[in-house]
Formats: sequence, structure tokens, C-alpha cells
Amino acid sequence: MCGIVGYVGNRPSLGVLIGGLRRLEYRGYDSAGVAMIDAGGRLSTHKRAGKLNVLTEELTASPIADGTTGIGHTRWATHGGPTDRNAHPHLGDDGKLAVIHNGIIENFSALKEELVGEGFTFASETDTEVAAVLLGREYRETGDLTLAFRRVVGRLHGAFTLLALHEDQPGVVVGARRNSPLVIGLGEGENFLGSDVAAFVEHTRRAVAIGQDQIVTIRPDAIEVTDFEGNAVETHPFEIDWNPAAADKGGWSSFMAKEISEEPDAVANTMRGRIADGQVSLPELDGVGSVLADADRVLILACGTAAYAGMLGKYALEKWAGVPVDVELSHEFRYREPVIGPRTVVVSISQSGETMDTLMAVKYARERGATTLSICNTQGATIARESDAALYTHAGPEVAVASTKAFVAQVTALYLLALHLASVRSHLDETQLRDALDELGALPDKLRTVLETAEEIQELARGMSDTRSVLFLGRHVGYPIALEGALKLKELAYIHAEGFAAGELKHGPIALIEPGQRVFVVVPSPRDSNSLHPKVVSNIQEIRARGAHIIAIAEQGDVAVLPFADDVIRIPLTAALFEPLLSVVPLQIFAMELAAAKGLDVDQPRNLAKSVTVE
Ligand code: M6R
Repeated sequence: MCGIVGYVGNRPSLGVLIGGLRRLEYRGYDSAGVAMIDAGGRLSTHKRAGKLNVLTEELTASPIADGTTGIGHTRWATHGGPTDRNAHPHLGDDGKLAVIHNGIIENFSALKEELVGEGFTFASETDTEVAAVLLGREYRETGDLTLAFRRVVGRLHGAFTLLALHEDQPGVVVGARRNSPLVIGLGEGENFLGSDVAAFVEHTRRAVAIGQDQIVTIRPDAIEVTDFEGNAVETHPFEIDWNPAAADKGGWSSFMAKEISEEPDAVANTMRGRIADGQVSLPELDGVGSVLADADRVLILACGTAAYAGMLGKYALEKWAGVPVDVELSHEFRYREPVIGPRTVVVSISQSGETMDTLMAVKYARERGATTLSICNTQGATIARESDAALYTHAGPEVAVASTKAFVAQVTALYLLALHLASVRSHLDETQLRDALDELGALPDKLRTVLETAEEIQELARGMSDTRSVLFLGRHVGYPIALEGALKLKELAYIHAEGFAAGELKHGPIALIEPGQRVFVVVPSPRDSNSLHPKVVSNIQEIRARGAHIIAIAEQGDVAVLPFADDVIRIPLTAALFEPLLSVVPLQIFAMELAAAKGLDVDQPRNLAKSVTVE
């Protein structure tokens, strides 16, 4: 959580910092702040509780002296509430050094005690201020920010990306990272730092990802990267293939609305160049090809929406590739003694590629001999770099906190992986493979058809804005969609929502049904010979008999649901495994519209941040 941006160069820094923070605000929006070395060579700091707008309105009302060196921060509070005092930057004791931080310094209490014993005082409740005071103390002895960092980082436990500048070193910003992300943006006569490339993509498309336990010093015309001991580290610049405009709202009412509208492209772009002559081609997996072919088990690790994508991956990998698959929440995985071995392939899924729980789970699995493969959306992401192989989704930047287009792109990538394994392991014949690829190829157009139902769903949502509880039911691949529908409604509209496997109803949850209870049911196609359609229709009848108000998501032409459903949302015909890629969209739109009808901030729901970079 928390977004970080740094700048040194030849133009006024404030605009660069605020622009970067605007693009990083999805990472946290409890408070925002900037520190600059102004034209007079003085450190100036401005910070406010609340969203970035609170700060920018104040800076517009009372303009400040700008400079060409600065750092900026948007916060998701961990230590200390979201107040002006706890907002970053924090200052060293002489007021000449400013620090911003993403992560948690776990031993900050002990360090603070030591510093208080030496006579230092603190203005905030944050762990970050401890790092600022330590850096200030070491700067006084070394007279150099990079050297001061080298002395301090070894004393910090936990996760941190820290950026600092000092009034006596204009034109220099220094950063360090452990277990939290940091990327350099390479410019002409200027350089940038950011939590991710979104921070500076409008200024440069060349970037360098900073590795674990490294310190970076940027000047207008040079960058220097070392390890924590000061040994030089070779850097590997990469090109950012995101269009900067993709990170703007582009006329939509919210990023979420825009991102839902981009789902057909997210699926098409994730497939692009990866299907040829009836085969899936994934050259990025060549390095782990033999392990994939011989794997005796796949273990999928992810959190939240990405974990629901993983559940769908299980159905596809087991059916098409015949390999046993387990799906686990990353944060539950490494705190027991999971059995993994050299023939276990761990597939992690993460839009941001920075989720701390997933990153730590991947490291844990790798240390125990598993081969790790990550599915990420953000280029240069830590999880991708910490894995043996990475399969990128090409959904483009996802800014809204609620994940939408990344989800369909993740499922697409998993299905490509499953079909690739199916041919490597000779588990599908040519016709079966071709049929599945044809269905996959037809999805973008079918998604466009689903998007045409948006107004109908908006109407439905408006009529339900006073609803206090909504249930979601599904079976087989409809089950993860029920879970995802409930998650979306909880996080966006703050409504109690639960997803159930429909078969589980009679084992307890049916007791929740009372007259008027709204229940979404994801109905499978009746055309499939193994279809669970009759069973789901029976489930609908059971809850309908107890007064539930049913909203069915069913394929076009399914008339069997009509007598029992109060509302029916239609999706185009496709094969069973592909239905979730279509049925999830109405649920995303519903949650968004219900939140909007309640006057809530759809892009930045309360208490949340997009990248969960602390455990
Ligand atoms: O960046 P990741 O995909 O690793 O994030 C995982 C979850 O935090 C994320 O999907 C979260 O559940 C979303 N807010 C759901 O909309």
C-alpha cells in the first residue's frame, strides 16, 4: 500500500509529483504529501489528511516555491491514524531531511526507544519517522545521503521502500527497498522513482526495476544502484508498453466503468500472438518447459479476486491437462507445513505483482524446491522477477481498486496455460484443442454483447439501493463467480454479501433465506450433456419457495429459469468452461452501479488500497 514518487531534473517538480501521485492514488488515499528543495535551496514540506485533492486544493489556494528535486507520497495508514501529523513526508530532527515510506518497519518500537533515550523527539505515531530520525543522525556523521542510507537499512526489519532528500544535497533523491516495490524511470536530463511505472509513464517509457535489498541514488543525469553493502549492481532497463492514456479515465464516470468496458480488449490482448496453427505458443515458459511437462501437481497461490481466477484455472487445468490442482490463499499457505516438491509447479496470480502475501508465498515455495510461474499484469513487478517464469496478462493498467479487466485477463492466461499443458502432456486431441481455442477466440465479441446489458443492470441496481444483504449462488465454474460477485458488492457498496456453492445450500445457508432476500444465481447452460442446469434450477425453486427474490444470470434461450426468476440477465452461448468469463461481467456492473446509486466512491472504496504490499 502507499504510493511513492521521486523526481530530480530540469523542470518544476511539483507538477511531476502531483501527476505521479494521481496515478498512484489507487495504492492508498488516507493522506498525501510532498517535499521539495525549493529554488532558494530550502526544504519545503506540505501534507494533508484525506485524498490527494485536499492537498492540491490547498496548494492551488496558497502556491508554494517550487524546485527541481522532490518526493511525494499517498498513504494507506498502518501505524497511526490518517491525520495531518501522520501523513508523509516525515522529517529528520534538524528539519533538513525528508523521508517517505511504503511498508512496515517491524522493529520501530525498539528503535524509537533507543532514539528517545538519546534525546530525539517525535512528532507522529508512525514507524516511518523512526527511519527519518535515524537517517538524519547518520547524515550528520557522513554528510552523504547514500552513505547514511547504507548505515540505516541494516537496522530496519520488515518491509520498506524509503525515499529521502536532504536540503544540503539538491539534485539528489535516494531510495532503498526491501520487500516493497521501487522502479526507476529513465529520462533525458531527469530521472524518476515510483512504486510502479504508472508514476512516471507519461514522462518516460524506459524503466529499471530495483531488486531486493538495493539502494538507488538518482541525479538529473545519472543513476547509481548498489546492494546494501555498497557493491555496484548492474541494471537492466526495459521498455514500458503501457499507453499513458490508458491510465486516464478517458471520459468515463469512473476508472472502474472504463476498465469494465475494456474487458473485451483485455482478453484479446492477453491472447494476442499466443495462438497459432491450432496451438498455444508461450515461449516465455521455455525455461520451465520440462518441469511443466512432468509436473505431478499444480498449486495456485493468490488473494482476493486473483484467487477466484485461480479456482477457474483449476477446473481448466484438471479437465484439459489432466494435472491435479490445488488453489490456496497465499496468506494461509506458508504458515503451516505445506507439502511441496521438485515436481510441484506453483502458479501465482497477481494483477499488481506486488501483493506481499503472494510474494512471500512464492519465495517460500521456491526455497522448498518448487518451480514457480507467475501470472502478473504489471511489467517489472516483483513477483514476476522472483519467479522462475512469468506469463504477463496484457490488460493494461488497472486503476480502480476493484479488479475487473485484470480478472478476465487472468482467467484467459490460465486457460492458455491449461491448453498449452494439454498439448505438451498430450491430454487433448487436435480437435478438442482447436474447439477450445475457437471458443476462447470468440470471447471478446461475446463480452461486447454482455456489455450491452449495462443499462438493464443499472436499472436493477438502482431498484436495490436500499438492500442490506445479497446472496450469490453458483455450481462448478459458477461457484467462483458467486464468490467474486459477493466480493465486488462488499468492497464497493458496503453491503453484506456472501457467495455459496449452490449444492451447499441445504447444509446450512438456506436458513438465511427469508421473504424478499435477494439472491443472484449463476445458471449453467442446459446444452451441456454434463450440465448441472437441472440441479441449479431445483436450487432456485427451493429458495424461491421460501420467498427469495431471484436474479438469474442465464444463457440466451434458457426458458427453464423463467417461471422461477424475478429478473433474468442474459449472456451469449458458449461452452461451459468459458461461461464464467461472461457471467462475471453483469455482477461487476451491478456492484459498481449499486455503489454509485448509494453515492459511494466507486474507484476508491473505504479502507482499501489496490496493492496490498503489507502482510
Ligand atoms: O494485485 P493482486 O491481484 O495480487 O491483488 C489481489 C487482491 O488484493 C485483489 O484482487 C483484491 O481482492 C481486489 N480489491 C478485488 O477487487
